Amino acid sequence: MAGAAAAAARSVVPTERFAARTAGMTASEIRALFAVASRPEVVSLAGGMPNLAALPLDSLAVEVADLISRDGQVALQYGSAQGVPALREQICEVMALEGIRADPDDVVVTVGSQMALDLVTRIFCDPGDVVLAEGPSYVGALGSFAAYQAQVVHVAMDEHGLVPELLREALQTLATQGITPKFLYTIPNFHNPAGVTLAVERRAEVLEICTTYGVGVVEDNPYGLLGFSGRTYPALRSLDRDVVYLGSFSKTFASGLRVGWALVPPAVRDRLVLAAESATLCPPSFTQMLVSRYLAGHEWRTQIKTFAEAYRDRRDALLQALETYLPDGCTWNVPDGGFYVWLTVPEGVDTKAMLPRAVTARVAYASGTGFYADGFGSRQLRLSYCYPTPERITEGVRRLAGVLEAELDVMRTFGSSARQVGPAPRNGPQTPSPHTP
Ligand SMILES: Cc1ncc(COP(=O)(O)O)c(C=O)c1O
Repeated sequence: MAGAAAAAARSVVPTERFAARTAGMTASEIRALFAVASRPEVVSLAGGMPNLAALPLDSLAVEVADLISRDGQVALQYGSAQGVPALREQICEVMALEGIRADPDDVVVTVGSQMALDLVTRIFCDPGDVVLAEGPSYVGALGSFAAYQAQVVHVAMDEHGLVPELLREALQTLATQGITPKFLYTIPNFHNPAGVTLAVERRAEVLEICTTYGVGVVEDNPYGLLGFSGRTYPALRSLDRDVVYLGSFSKTFASGLRVGWALVPPAVRDRLVLAAESATLCPPSFTQMLVSRYLAGHEWRTQIKTFAEAYRDRRDALLQALETYLPDGCTWNVPDGGFYVWLTVPEGVDTKAMLPRAVTARVAYASGTGFYADGFGSRQLRLSYCYPTPERITEGVRRLAGVLEAELDVMRTFGSSARQVGPAPRNGPQTPSPHTP
């Protein structure tokens, strides 16, 4: 009998024991791409990997050695769940650059801002809850929302970012269905993937609309200091202390250290720290202390400028190549910072279906559908200019243009161009709307 019970137990397929919420966890298209895109012969315009070539590796090596020899007993030990106090103070100095006045007690250090996103979703969202997010939105955030079975309602952007009237409309529509979203998730600066920045004049209005409808705001800002004009924008958190603000050292220092943070209202902090504790006990002392030393002993502001200059050169190379090579009917935005250009291809081209052909032609991009929770985005794709050299970017776009020409050729030959609505616009920088609702 015991043997029969054991046999029956063995016959249960382990996947049948998965929790229901794992059904929403699918490998992001971007992760699946990394394997092929990282082949040296492929020009990858797909991933958002920061370019670390400009980092002062020699002096960082000295810093690491000194950290271990002087403070190894602390750096290699467990630490506080909320994060190293000295680093939390320095994080407040970093945030001050965007107008935020914060108390280090309200900062929770996380393993990258991705963990902060996960924790925030965990403490706010029950299955079925609605979250508002720009359309398109950051794929990692959509992954967290799916993992906690939250539903995403997208709000469209134009060239000035999230459109307040459309936000109000979405909230009004949801209100008539008796739904109050848990929060608006927004990336106001140098958006991933859309590349746009929320106009300063819209910021207070977005906050005011959310307050009116009783909706929280989660501001995700990993790129804010990487503006190409040297300009920074007032954080939403600087205008409203109830905003949950997420920051990261991934793009301004080193993504491999996995140090990010959440700045939360005091009423949220304890719950967030408990969630963090259950996830990791504490963030790594070693990387936090390294970041802290870097901020204390290095010209980090100058380093950020150096990064931004390199990214600006790469953006220029990308824009130039798009103008030169892409066929008519393509439109794109001109980002003023960050890593990304959002490209709309001619009607009838499906960027997800085209991707294998692009990789065969040795260029990779991120297709648009991964950035929507609702299947939109098949005519869009994201190009990241952060990592390849300007020469490789130019070559990558030349290859992409060849693939697009071939798609259009097939469409013309087999008559799919009948689906074309109206005349194709001339190619060029796009205004407005990365996502027309
Ligand atoms: C908008 C946005 N938020 C969060 C993250 C996660 O960053 P990290 O976990 O490295 O801090 C990224 C990374 O690309 C991002 O683009």
